[in-house]
Amino acid sequence: MSRYDRHKALLEEHLARLVKESVPRSLYEPLKYVLAGGGKRIRPVLLMLSCEAVGGTARSALRAGAAIEILHNFTLVHDDIMDNASSRRGRKTVHTKWDTNVAILVGDELLALAYRAVLQTKSPNIQRIAKTFTDGVVEVCEGQAYDKEFETRSAVTVNDYLLMIEKKTAKMVSVAAEIGALIGNAAPEGIRALRQYGHHVGLAFQIQDDLLDIMANEEELGKKIGGDLVEGKKTFLLLEALRTARGSDRKLLRELVANKGCSPDRIPEYRRIYIETGAAASARRRIEREINRSKQELHRLPSTGAQAVLEWFADMLLHRTY
Ligand code: IPE
Ligand code: IPE
Ligand code: MG
Ligand code: MG
Ligand code: MG
Repeated sequence: MSRYDRHKALLEEHLARLVKESVPRSLYEPLKYVLAGGGKRIRPVLLMLSCEAVGGTARSALRAGAAIEILHNFTLVHDDIMDNASSRRGRKTVHTKWDTNVAILVGDELLALAYRAVLQTKSPNIQRIAKTFTDGVVEVCEGQAYDKEFETRSAVTVNDYLLMIEKKTAKMVSVAAEIGALIGNAAPEGIRALRQYGHHVGLAFQIQDDLLDIMANEEELGKKIGGDLVEGKKTFLLLEALRTARGSDRKLLRELVANKGCSPDRIPEYRRIYIETGAAASARRRIEREINRSKQELHRLPSTGAQAVLEWFADMLLHRTY
């Protein structure tokens, strides 16, 4: 079993025991459905690996790991409402299986449970940990606001996009790495290196998410393919394709922007455009660049087994298919 799998198993076991409440059922049934839904658990595993990379133990980082995963699940439940997504992790989303009111409340409670968990962390750095966590939540909200604003804004640049994904996705990955470092009582350089590592991994992660949204196998991804096109999201691929497409392809892309999305039957056509304009290849290059940058940050850390695992972790994300 890899170190990733071991940490993931530890996290699953902890999460399964975490919520003792069971009534009101209309709240706890869907809430437990969310937490038991699997997922890659990359944020908590990263948090634990970061703690180990600076000499701490994975166990000391377990509660904070659970906290960050619960927080992530809160963002997903609300994100799925905002994105009209009907499936996630191969199952119905909460607002589809139950309803939107249930999903709003489940999200709210998950946020509270995340705080409950992170505040149980025993560390002399607890105040800084709580602040880092909170700053992350604020940025996710800002990122999600930009994501929605961009749906209806026709002029969005790659820089606008990068700011948006830094906030909605990279920040939380970076926060995971930073909190791991704080629990491990890292020196300032170690904290900085891991924060930067998380930042680059996080950017790569969201561009990959955009790429998979259109290129992945639906069953393996566990989410509907082409959701970003239907919702009119300004993804890395769309912005790149808009930059390079000519002729009828360009017209189709402009149409997508003007209509703020498309019907699902147009998805294969846009997939073709993303491939033929080189937008997909450009996304792959950018992902690789961010992953390489993330690995460079690791050179600032003492070379331990965990550091090698963080390199492996970055490569694993580079090659992920779901
Ligand atoms: C999906 O996150 C949302 C993004 C920030 C791209 P993940 O891809 O980590 O989702 P799970 O937790 O593995 O399902
Ligand atoms: C999600 O981005 C970002 C957050 C949940 C904060 P997406 O909307 O692209 O995530 P998926 O594709 O639905 O998982
Ligand atoms: Mg979204
Ligand atoms: Mg979404
Ligand atoms: Mg997505």
